Amino acid sequence: MQDVLKVAMPKGRIYKQASKLFREAGLVIPDDIDDSRKLIIAVPEAGMEFIMAKPVDVPTYVEYGVADIGVVGKDVLMEENRNVYELLDLGIARCRMSVIGLPDWEPVLNPRVATKYPNVASQYFRERGQQVEVIKLNGSIELAPLIGLADRIVDMVETGQTLKENGLVEQEQIFAITSRLIANRVSYRMKNERIQALCDKLQHMISAAASEKA
Ligand code: PRP
Repeated sequence: MQDVLKVAMPKGRIYKQASKLFREAGLVIPDDIDDSRKLIIAVPEAGMEFIMAKPVDVPTYVEYGVADIGVVGKDVLMEENRNVYELLDLGIARCRMSVIGLPDWEPVLNPRVATKYPNVASQYFRERGQQVEVIKLNGSIELAPLIGLADRIVDMVETGQTLKENGLVEQEQIFAITSRLIANRVSYRMKNERIQALCDKLQHMISAAASEKA
């Protein structure tokens, strides 16, 4: 009997697109998990197990090997900086990491920057030789400049709707974000054939989708 391949899937905004891509690539993901609160879903006929994780925890599960592979946004990957292999750009959940502020923002000495991504933000401003005070928040980051907690924020922008509705503007783009397939370093060696086969199927679907768009 073959080993079970454990896959960490992010709940929330990435899940829908990731599960669609996996299904298109021929993987069996039971329909009933989409709305379920179940956290571990075994698919014995495919020799797979899905671990439904909070997105920010996916690289941790994969680094520690409790999941062999996982799907995670580049934003989380950059912030968490875990010791994992990045195997594939899945090309889904496209958005960007940006510096955001009020339209009338003016540079101040040692500005405060609120973000869910303190490592990304610190590195970005350090590389530019700008001294900032980074304030970690856990959500609704756009509030910070509106209520005077921070001068600017570093956050992800997808449709731009949140910025628009709150009168904020994107000032600088830091990097583009898509979801990635990552693997545990040991699993990648021990379960190489299965992981590689999965990568090949996904890559095929991604290329087909790209050429359809072109
Ligand atoms: C994210 C992000 C922005 C918003 C951007 O927040 O932090 O607030 O989405 O999306 P948009 O450009 O399409 O408006 P999320 O919905 O994950 O919730 P959070 O505020 O709790 O982090």
